[in-house]
Amino acid sequence: MILAIETSCDDTCAAILDPSGRRAFSNVVHTQREHERYGGVVPEVASRAHLERLDGVVQRALADAGVPLKEVTHVAVTVRPGLIGALLVGLSAAKGLAYAHRLPLIPVNHLVGHVAAAYLADQDLAPPFVALVASGGHTAIYSVTESGMNLLGQTLDDAAGEALDKGARMLGLGFPGGPALSKAAQGGDPSRYAFPVALKEKNNLDFSFSGLKTSLLYRLKAMDEKGVREKLSHLAASYEAAVVDALSLKLLRAAELYDAPAIVVTGGVAANAPLRRVLMEECERLGVKLVIPPSELCTDNAAMIGAAAATTPVVPYPDYLGLNARSI
Ligand code: KG4
Ligand code: ZN
Repeated sequence: MILAIETSCDDTCAAILDPSGRRAFSNVVHTQREHERYGGVVPEVASRAHLERLDGVVQRALADAGVPLKEVTHVAVTVRPGLIGALLVGLSAAKGLAYAHRLPLIPVNHLVGHVAAAYLADQDLAPPFVALVASGGHTAIYSVTESGMNLLGQTLDDAAGEALDKGARMLGLGFPGGPALSKAAQGGDPSRYAFPVALKEKNNLDFSFSGLKTSLLYRLKAMDEKGVREKLSHLAASYEAAVVDALSLKLLRAAELYDAPAIVVTGGVAANAPLRRVLMEECERLGVKLVIPPSELCTDNAAMIGAAAATTPVVPYPDYLGLNARSI
């Protein structure tokens, strides 16, 4: 049994998986609410909240799975990328647990974890495929083969989720911005305003969302409050459409360039309904398999870290004691 721990941002997570990493017996996520009043994640607050919650979350993951700690054979933990203080809480807990029980440790990359969520969602999925990870902190496309993950393109500035969050904030909507924008966009016309999609040149698989944000800012500056209120659904729909267009354009282009038989989409933004709709239609037309895990596996969770652990080198007991903030 694998015990997996994830604390890279604002979710305190633990899960129990079978040794293949393709089946999760429990997947406990405690989402920190402390950040809501700041409109974004405060790193120091996140670290302290992980410290307070992690023990309880691990206990619950064991209890939900009905697995006693003595049956755990491996401890997997997110080591990068993420908030350094937040990562250290999870890593320290994982090292302590592994050392106390003389278990090996598996240090997992958070983005490999996001992609591995697809292995839990689809038992038949196997490389090769292309994968999009789109969250509040990351936007990247990978080619996944038997030998690992290869970065094909990534954002040069903001992540897609961040662009949605900032756009929602400019429009006076709530946090997180993705779902708030989608709600405000209902009944709106996505083609009413022409917001830009950057880096459209052929073969370019990178993203940029800063111009989109600026474009919304100037559009809003040219309108009065009443105008914004009246046009809110069109503004939200058009802004959301620009993000969805950029993501789907680059992802489908990557699939074509790499002749991929399957596409995986994960990260919090994968919950976006218009994005799912476009990709479903296009993949059906192209005869490409599409795997979008359920949203509880797309957002940060520890089951995906356990799934990634199955393909990540193991550090034997007690060699991982040397793993520290610098190796993160
Ligand atoms: O993966 P995630 O939960 O956390 C990390 O950033 O690691 O992703 C959060 C992001 C936020 O920016 C949020 O606005 C976005 O995912 N998001 C959505 C939706 N649900 C969450 N974006 C678009 N549509 C949604 N339904
Ligand atoms: Zn994430």
